[in-house]
Amino acid sequence: MIVIRACEGFEELAACVRLQIETWGYDEGDVIPRRAFLVAQKIGGQVIGAFDSEITCSSPNGGPESLVGFAFSLPGVKTGAGEPRAYLHSHMLAVKDAYRNRGLGTRLKLEQRREALARGLRYMEWTFDPLEIKNAHLNIHKLGAIVRGYRANFYGVSSSQLQGGLPTDRLLAEWRLDSSRVNAILEGNLAVTPRIEERILVPASIYQWKASEAGRELALALQSANRQKFQQAFSLGLAVLAFSLDAEGNGVFELGSPTQAETE
Ligand SMILES: CC(C)(COP(=O)(O)OP(=O)(O)OC[C@H]1O[C@@H](n2cnc3c(N)ncnc32)[C@H](O)[C@@H]1OP(=O)(O)O)[C@@H](O)C(=O)NCCC(=O)NCCS
Repeated sequence: MIVIRACEGFEELAACVRLQIETWGYDEGDVIPRRAFLVAQKIGGQVIGAFDSEITCSSPNGGPESLVGFAFSLPGVKTGAGEPRAYLHSHMLAVKDAYRNRGLGTRLKLEQRREALARGLRYMEWTFDPLEIKNAHLNIHKLGAIVRGYRANFYGVSSSQLQGGLPTDRLLAEWRLDSSRVNAILEGNLAVTPRIEERILVPASIYQWKASEAGRELALALQSANRQKFQQAFSLGLAVLAFSLDAEGNGVFELGSPTQAETE
């Protein structure tokens, strides 16, 4: 059985750091240390773990040795018009390779949402790589996030093994935790939007392109072509409102004009 709960104690935070390194292969300049996880927990962030109770450990709720996934978020403040508004920036989500595609990533996000709403926090943001079809499917199709922002080379140079040496371009996911859109999507009422004005494609072969030296030029060309399309669309007020996959695993970002309810 997999238990999803807040991480406790130094050892569970250290297990998150190990899984972070296993997932992204970060060097010591990029890795987020245990102390930062600890501080995030103390100041209103979240360190939520997925624990496999089948892995031998002292407690039925799991322990550091049974950590198979985690979600990590930091508290943030939005300023501008009106009162300053607290929100969460979700910085990392990782599931051990052998445990992927069984719903754990989704369960970790849903626990982030539940815990945030229980504290009166209604908004969460995170960034994700626009070339990662799987993450787009999870963030937009399954969770109901929308996207209106593109950050070119957001982190600068990265030692991440998932980045394939490409610029660290990111889309900004906006998750309105208790909006009618998100509630409908989580309840399985796929809010199919008839308002699609533009589609931006990512071929399934992107994963092979990113993984090989020979494919890197193709990945780079796609990244820069899609960057232009996203930036242009966002400058016109469009938002990513849906994401679909075809039978071959190619991904399609579907953009349209968001309603006021989708952006508040
Ligand atoms: C992203 C990640 C956390 C997802 O965890 P997970 O436990 O596999 O997620 P889930 O099982 O809840 O959902 C995955 C969904 O993607 C789908 N999927 C899997 N491979 C896919 C692919 N190549 N293209 C499109 N969708 C894909 C799964 O079928 C599932 O969708 P479904 O429930 O509609 O069938 C995990 O893959 C991971 O750790 N990746 C590396 C780190 C990372 O990229 N983190 C996120 C960015 S910070």
